[in-house]
Amino acid sequence: MTTSKRAYVLGHDDPELDRLEHQARMLAPATGAILGLAGLRPGMRVLDLGTGAGDVALTAAEIVGESGQVVGVDLEDRALALARRRAAERGLGNTTFERGDVREWSGGRFDAVVGRLILLYCADAPAVIEHHLRALAPGGIYVAMEYDMVAARAEPAIPLVGTALAWMVEAFRRGGMDPALGTRLDRVLRKAGLDPEILGLQVYVSPEDGARSLAGIVSALMPLIEKTGVASAAEVDLDTLPGRIEAAMREVDAVTVFPTLVGAWARLT
Ligand SMILES: C[S@@+](CC[C@H](N)C(=O)[O-])C[C@H]1O[C@@H](n2cnc3c(N)ncnc32)[C@H](O)[C@@H]1O
Repeated sequence: MTTSKRAYVLGHDDPELDRLEHQARMLAPATGAILGLAGLRPGMRVLDLGTGAGDVALTAAEIVGESGQVVGVDLEDRALALARRRAAERGLGNTTFERGDVREWSGGRFDAVVGRLILLYCADAPAVIEHHLRALAPGGIYVAMEYDMVAARAEPAIPLVGTALAWMVEAFRRGGMDPALGTRLDRVLRKAGLDPEILGLQVYVSPEDGARSLAGIVSALMPLIEKTGVASAAEVDLDTLPGRIEAAMREVDAVTVFPTLVGAWARLT
């Protein structure tokens, strides 16, 4: 949600929760690397902003171990229920999930505040960061991870993939969200008074995962794509889109160059 009036654009129906988990599997190594570089360590108390299905919280929980603690916060009960179930399945008793708006939620002191693909949905990202810096212990770490969606492509190039990626990028833009926010994280964290390090990690995925992922995000964005006049339902033809993308990718054995995951982190001095 970017303002108090605008609803979160991707929703939380079953396909969207599946999409989040699928995306998270592809982002897991990059996410673990960024959290490690940022300095997450055993024993820390960590807050995960906009936790969704809980993937970043669960990765953080593995890092901080039983002596640490993780709290994931999200607005959506359905996502939180899934995140709780997954934490229980993995026996992660150190991980809890709470309903709250990241723009105002607070819950005590943390050694690290992390958030992946959440600042994109916050109209005033520096204000959200500043709010959570107040809860960071001295020497605490702030970690942001966002996409550079503009970097995504099929290799070799495929016209249908290029078109679908353009629908995605343009829908976010017209919806008031920055699809290249990852590239600007240094600026965003500096506005919040931090002196960050920044690194983009590039994930490459198979034709099947690439097709599923691209069709999934276009499907989740379809209401915004139509509302903002990016494309019509007939042009997109959601029912056949996944099959068409996958067939086109298989034909030339293409890989998907995923949106770059950019991590930026800073330690409070
Ligand atoms: C794209 S998902 C990312 C989920 C997770 N961080 C990940 O990377 O897998 C964004 C999540 O942020 C949540 N969200 C958006 N605006 C929020 C807000 N103002 N407060 C709390 N959660 C928010 C949404 O409900 C959604 O679950």
